Amino acid sequence: MKEAVVIGGSNGIGLGITNSLIEKGYYVHILDMQVPDEEYLVDKTKYRHQYIDLMELRLSELSHLKQNPSVDILAIAAGFDRVAHFASLSSKEIESLLQVNSLATIQILHYFYDRMVAEESFKTAVMVSIAGHISSPLFSVYGASKAALHYLIESVNVELEMVGSTNRILEVSPDEVSSGKIPRIRYYGASHTDIHLVYKLAQEILKHLEQNETLFIPEFEEVYQSVLERYHADPAQFGRESYRYLQSSGRVLDEKKKIVVGYLSGTFDLFHIGHLKLLKRAKQQCDYLIVGVHADASHKGKETFISFEERLEIVRACKYVDHATQSTKEDSESWEKFHFDKLFVGSDYKGTERFNHYEKVLGEKGVEIVYFPYTKGTSSSQLREILTRK
Ligand code: CTP
Repeated sequence: MKEAVVIGGSNGIGLGITNSLIEKGYYVHILDMQVPDEEYLVDKTKYRHQYIDLMELRLSELSHLKQNPSVDILAIAAGFDRVAHFASLSSKEIESLLQVNSLATIQILHYFYDRMVAEESFKTAVMVSIAGHISSPLFSVYGASKAALHYLIESVNVELEMVGSTNRILEVSPDEVSSGKIPRIRYYGASHTDIHLVYKLAQEILKHLEQNETLFIPEFEEVYQSVLERYHADPAQFGRESYRYLQSSGRVLDEKKKIVVGYLSGTFDLFHIGHLKLLKRAKQQCDYLIVGVHADASHKGKETFISFEERLEIVRACKYVDHATQSTKEDSESWEKFHFDKLFVGSDYKGTERFNHYEKVLGEKGVEIVYFPYTKGTSSSQLREILTRK
């Protein structure tokens, strides 16, 4: 049985493609953060769901699919957007938009490239957007993330041709905003999936994929040919009209999401699972985690095994840590520098004079002190003791 991989296949157009493939006799591997709603699947026995987080893409988790000779279709339909002024996007949101919409997709294409240059047929479709072809005020980063895909696919298709491959990547670029004709398909959002709306589009995508095409803009002759002509004739004027249209559509969401900054400090000698759990839990409760590493352990009357520079380097390399630096003597001094919203610490510090004091002084500044359960069974002191005994 032929098999296909649909990234973002749990809802919207990804789900539509999944259903159309199942109808064609395919077994589909749905890679998505969410489990698909089986109610919308044409055959519950013809798919398998695998969890994937494009914010933390691990390509090795796709190796069984890349190596599976039965897999001959890859469809990528994952991404998200927000209509807002450039100024109101946070730095974190810009990073996420580019990571999910561009970087992860490009890395997946690169990972499967071996399959594309091989002799057998291997078909790839990527949901891009008309926003990647025109200026997109109020969609700026989204548009940029899609433009990156548009030009990447255009270039890679030439490379495929020049190295003698007959396989091509199909770019599918419908309108993100509204054409008036195509129903506004929220092909990324889970909640607005209307399987009947996406069904027709999915069927058309597969038709273009079969024909080895490189670009499919739904309703091109009817709508988008003239849209693109208008854009090329006067990009700025086109942009102004688009800006006004979006402003009046009520879709602009400019409220800034508050970034929660977290802070914690520690010695992190002989880095262990207790440290890792603390950092992981802390990152789950904030957007940006700052860690202060103590220069030594003299405040505990102890000596460290590992030098300050190495401990700092280890903590800095941990994926939950956004910024690591030398700690200040008191965490309250670091607040003066970072104005963090949350202070994290293991529960072994609860009720200590130091933390009772922080609860008072930092509490007045609106800082929340979060105590996490101390991980039993391991500590730097224990490890130091074992090492010293040996
Ligand atoms: N921590 C934890 N669980 C552990 C060890 C440490 O939650 N098993 C937390 C501490 O509560 C602290 C942070 O990790 O908030 C950094 O502590 P650190 O002093 O580096 O770790 P310890 O292993 O407790 O060090 P020592 O044994 O030298 O006191």
